[in-house]
Amino acid sequence: MLCWLDGLPANALPPADRGLAYGDGLFETLAVKDGRPRLLQRHLARLAEGCQRLAITLDVSAVADELERFAARLGEGVAKLIVTRGDGQRGYAPAVNQPARRILLGSPFPAYPKENAAQGIALFPCRTRLAEQPLLAGLKHLNRLEQVLARAEWQGSEYAEGLMCDSSGRLIEGVFSNLFMVKNGELLTPALNRCGVAGVMRGLIIDLAASAHIALQVRDIDGHELPAACEVFVCNSLYGIWPVRRFAAQSWQVGALTRTLQRLLATAED
Ligand SMILES: Cc1ncc(COP(=O)(O)O)c(C=O)c1O
Repeated sequence: MLCWLDGLPANALPPADRGLAYGDGLFETLAVKDGRPRLLQRHLARLAEGCQRLAITLDVSAVADELERFAARLGEGVAKLIVTRGDGQRGYAPAVNQPARRILLGSPFPAYPKENAAQGIALFPCRTRLAEQPLLAGLKHLNRLEQVLARAEWQGSEYAEGLMCDSSGRLIEGVFSNLFMVKNGELLTPALNRCGVAGVMRGLIIDLAASAHIALQVRDIDGHELPAACEVFVCNSLYGIWPVRRFAAQSWQVGALTRTLQRLLATAED
């Protein structure tokens, strides 16, 4: 596995790293194609916002150069960037203005079945709920135990993703994706001001919908609204859009708006 630590090849992490001790950090998972990181500016914008909200000191433009060099080296696959607050002493108190640590990991692109994007997927109803924490909502921070518990709820290939609600039963997102649905001709995606990750692909889809004059609402969506949806899809920055064809007793055809957005995405600029 290709691995760089603070810009240099490495294969070990200092044991005092606060990312390991407390999940004190952020990450980004980028698709790399033809030696270039896809959607780089969007990933950097989310990372910069996360660093600002957590008071992590990171030179984001230096990270951009590093990611370009790493992607050129990787060629094709997935670049995972982990940014931690760096080393700590005992105790939670963060040092002030300590430069962040950067870890870059390269791996092959996941072998997702082609049918996922073409015919759609079955979505597993996860029992694990997302806790509400507005201070962390939207960030791709390193505390991902809820996703680990949720992903352990199903095995095998029948379900390609799982659906997660918050503790009040609102629909929030997939285990590793964001959620969209179409209701009364309008595109809906859950508000992420209490929990959930504000995905880069979600942001791109919101912008594509706006340019194509597709009506869209970002709002709280109760779990009971799902049966009234006429199209449902999930998305992330690696696989793009997967239509949902089945959830519990509910089934859907791949809808026209989902197909339109898949087409717009295929030709979208970075
Ligand atoms: C919990 C969670 N939500 C949403 C997403 C989608 O984010 P993105 O579009 O930035 O890949 C991911 C991606 O891994 C995720 O882990």
